[in-house]
Amino acid sequence: MSLAAPAPTGRRLLGGAVLAALLARAAAAQTSPGLGTLARQHGFIFGAAVQAEWLQTNPLFAAAVAREAALLVPEWEAKFEALQPQEGRFNFGPLDGILNWGQARSLPVRGHTLVWHIAMPPWLRAALADGPARARTVMQAHFDTVLPRTRARIRDWDVVNEAVANPLGSDNPSASGPLRPTPWLAALGPAYVPLAFRLARERDPTLRLTLNDYGVEEDTPAADIKRQWLLALLRSLQDQRVPIDAVGIQAHLQMQNPFSADKFTAFVRTLRGMGLAVLITELDVREPNRVADGFAARDEAVAAWVGRFLTAAVEGGVRTVLTWGLMDRYSWLVMDPGVARRDGLHHRGLPLDWEGNRKPMWRVMARILGGQG
Ligand code: XIL
Repeated sequence: MSLAAPAPTGRRLLGGAVLAALLARAAAAQTSPGLGTLARQHGFIFGAAVQAEWLQTNPLFAAAVAREAALLVPEWEAKFEALQPQEGRFNFGPLDGILNWGQARSLPVRGHTLVWHIAMPPWLRAALADGPARARTVMQAHFDTVLPRTRARIRDWDVVNEAVANPLGSDNPSASGPLRPTPWLAALGPAYVPLAFRLARERDPTLRLTLNDYGVEEDTPAADIKRQWLLALLRSLQDQRVPIDAVGIQAHLQMQNPFSADKFTAFVRTLRGMGLAVLITELDVREPNRVADGFAARDEAVAAWVGRFLTAAVEGGVRTVLTWGLMDRYSWLVMDPGVARRDGLHHRGLPLDWEGNRKPMWRVMARILGGQG
């Protein structure tokens, strides 16, 4: 990089002296095993969503990931618009950044995500509007290039993300269900989901095929309906002998919603009873509108919430847990205006705080996944 190039993100955000002090503290913490190590010793897998740019340019973030995660998922780099920004022109650069970083540290990577209604490049929207034949061709062409290219390194893909509609009463209601109205549904009808899973299985017979969704965790009337819709979709896929191995439950939890451990455990058990693995794929926590005074009280409240949720998940048979990011500073709950707080506070919904220090949420996860204490 030339000296005139702009400073990379991590260094722009942190002054040199501050960064050095933080790195020294992070280095000291390295002697104590991270969540990934603790979880593995206890039969669980812990991982986190990461961004390639931060791994490469932000030593504090990279050190935290290296210390804590045993599995990586690209937060953006494997989405459709990242991999195929223009039709037929693939860009594996950002995803390779994560794959190579992971490979150097023997960290496996999950794929996220092949078919989704967000992160679609404009050309794809136009192509899907051309009707079913063209939609089938673009789905197939994407899978034809991506799956062989990632086959050696990615053994688990979110084949379809967020296919189930949001019932009335959700934050963003979308339909009378069960399938979310998306450009894929408009182009191909409900058959787009079986098509995606079948194409994936044909191209890679031993790949773990996962359906990933959210809004099925909490104890609200909308979540009750969405759980039923997700089950109905899965049953219909299984009735049609569609290949599907796992369900990802995102778990973007909101503390302002009620949570029932019994209900959630029962739901996970129902999924497991259908022969499906269940993963928690994107755990983080949105604090309520009114929060306690001070970080200490807020962090304890978040940890207690996560403790109840993960205990219920593990009770149901979950063995893999990923958080969506690792440090509050780089959480989409802070950086994405669509989900950030509007009162000037920053959500503290991940295991590590703004500086990368372990919070009570880390400790509760170490207890539940790592058998600590
Ligand atoms: C989010 C990313 O974290 C953001 O950086 C981006 O702005 C939008 O997408 N469900 C998913 C993830 O499956 O892909 C989303 O990730 C969060 C919700």
